[in-house]
Amino acid sequence: MTAHKTFHIEFIGEKTIPIEEGESVLDAALKAGIPHYHTCGGHARCSTCRILVSKGKEHLSAINDKEAALREQLTFPSNVRLACQTFVENAPVSIHRIIRDVSDVDLYIDQSENDFSELGEEKELVLFFLDIRDFTPFMEAYLAFDVIHILRKLFGICRTCIEAGGGKIIETAGDGLYAVFGLRCSPETAAMNAIESGFAIFKELENFNRDYVQKYFRHRFQIGIGMHCGNVIVGNVGLGINNNLTVMGLPVNIASRIQSATKDLNNSFLLSNDVLKQAETKDYPSALLTMKGVTDPIQVHLLGEPYYPASVFLLKDKKAENIAAPLT
Ligand code: FES
Repeated sequence: MTAHKTFHIEFIGEKTIPIEEGESVLDAALKAGIPHYHTCGGHARCSTCRILVSKGKEHLSAINDKEAALREQLTFPSNVRLACQTFVENAPVSIHRIIRDVSDVDLYIDQSENDFSELGEEKELVLFFLDIRDFTPFMEAYLAFDVIHILRKLFGICRTCIEAGGGKIIETAGDGLYAVFGLRCSPETAAMNAIESGFAIFKELENFNRDYVQKYFRHRFQIGIGMHCGNVIVGNVGLGINNNLTVMGLPVNIASRIQSATKDLNNSFLLSNDVLKQAETKDYPSALLTMKGVTDPIQVHLLGEPYYPASVFLLKDKKAENIAAPLT
């Protein structure tokens, strides 16, 4: 008879337990008195036994067909496994139980509509901020219906261009929005796509201004776009609101401030040197931005156009054709 090897597995914050070769992580946990959740009884149907692997992913058994089927349905990140289908083949291995008691279940189950992990993950993303310039005078001059109607159209244009480049809108707030690129592609592709999406938005906005806004509202919208990239924490806080994907970290704040700097630098499209380098695109004129709370100045590149003064655009008493003419 061949003797089974015995390894050890650390349940972080709980205890380290022995696990035999050929024994599932779930079985070992239950044998050691850990109340590991397993609603379906270990048949790869419920996902309540899921674990987050912190160390030793390479020492675990390969994903079997049953686990693969459930993973596909639930879009697990690579460091999440089903304890009932996972075996330890070497050491060291450290894991977290994700669902610890019944109060955790609702946080993680039945969220298969989310298109990204609800678990916290660190990821390199391109952060994309967009703001509509001088929206307040427009809001004051038109009915609430018109304001929302126009915002829907503007954000619709942005959404089409952002999603065409593989980006995802995280949030809209008032007359601005915030999106990320790189959830499902390399940082290099994300940077290239984000820049292309930015240019596509400017082009579509131009058409929208010419064919619709000037015609029906005697107005013309301008926007500011700012981008930065870096490592951020991505996760879903699981309230079921708006898919509730949350992205946090200093790069997010920097991207937002770069967008704000479009006003000071009088250029509609700014991106940090980090994004430009990732995209390996041609060079553009640059400037240095000093930001409170950030040690070194941030080099930004100016890809856009100077703004026209806002007063030119809200001309309700003038002919729409006049508005299209640039200022001299
Ligand atoms: S116990 Fe249900 S999937 Fe593992």
